[in-house]
Amino acid sequence: MASLKFELHKEDNQSKARAGKITTDHGEILTPIFMPVGTVGSVKAVNQQQLKNDIKAQIILGNTYHLYLRPGTDVLEAAGGLHKFNGWDRPILTDSGGYQVFSLAGTRKIKEEGVTFQSHIDGSRHLFSPEKVMDIERSIGADIIMAFDECTPFGSDYNYTRKSMEMTHRWLDRCIKRLDETDNMYGYTQNLFPIVQGSVFPDLRKASCEYIASKNAVGNAIGGLSVGEPEDKLYEFTGLCCEYLPQDKPRYLMGVGTPWNILEGIALGVDMFDCVMPTRNGRNGMLFTTEGVINIKNKKWEKDFTPIDSGFECETSNYYTKAYLRHLVHSQEILALELASIHNLAFYLWLVGQAREHIIAGDFTSWKNEMVVKLKTRL
Ligand code: GUN
Repeated sequence: MASLKFELHKEDNQSKARAGKITTDHGEILTPIFMPVGTVGSVKAVNQQQLKNDIKAQIILGNTYHLYLRPGTDVLEAAGGLHKFNGWDRPILTDSGGYQVFSLAGTRKIKEEGVTFQSHIDGSRHLFSPEKVMDIERSIGADIIMAFDECTPFGSDYNYTRKSMEMTHRWLDRCIKRLDETDNMYGYTQNLFPIVQGSVFPDLRKASCEYIASKNAVGNAIGGLSVGEPEDKLYEFTGLCCEYLPQDKPRYLMGVGTPWNILEGIALGVDMFDCVMPTRNGRNGMLFTTEGVINIKNKKWEKDFTPIDSGFECETSNYYTKAYLRHLVHSQEILALELASIHNLAFYLWLVGQAREHIIAGDFTSWKNEMVVKLKTRL
């Protein structure tokens, strides 16, 4: 069993976009890639067969915070890890909880040792330290495991951001040490991705990238973006991080974003994305399509008997009509959640697949510029 490998297949000559392939012990991931979010080990409203067959997901996410609270590491270990537990035999990535603890947990205290927080389920108190999080991520058994970080809130001042970033760096060293001292539990390799912080301060971002790069990890992540900053800042700091992070390792932009954010991120040199948007917004009736954005609840779609989207291949998107999906949404049918989630995720996976093909064909930038206009259209 081997460490994660990254192969670059093609680099665009008009942008920083790349097409590549990540190899893990649970299979290959063609990049650029979008990773559906399965917080508790389940992508909401979608089952594993649909993820494979309709959506064509190559890797999914799990969350350390949620999986630790429920079902707990004892159950995950007894199952033989998350892959065995949820029946997903392709790659899995776990976020470290460094984001959820800050955004979900009510009363929390951040100290050098770690973060104490209260469970959103029963209010019980817990401590997440870098060591504890690495132990939990070992028990979950994902192929890619994220370092424990502080996702610095947007709007933090320079001094807070610098101190927070430096603590994230010290926490990274503790994560690396703990992983060195422990073994994988299920016979395959787990790969640590460190996370760059530094908010919207160029010198801090650069320092963070240089620190993270010096660890020579098999892949690197950009955190602390898509947390309320304006879109131009998201692109500016994504570009800056890509410039300073290693070229020959995959770059993962955490928690991003809209379809156009993803295309712009790819153009800036990002290889991996995740976001709850396709599923969460889908459950609220927002559909991303090849023609633009649809609010399926609108009266406009009441008698529109055309497919949800015929612009790409997907059994669900091509088969069910807008009028029918609108009816399901208004009737609060469970099927509405399922169809909207499958469509949006299949669309995201199609979009990154198209990006990859256009990078390889050499016309990515012109395709991307046209596509971004289309994707943003409100239908
Ligand atoms: N998800 C989105 N942003 C972040 C981040 O900065 N850190 C972590 N751990 N997860 C994220």
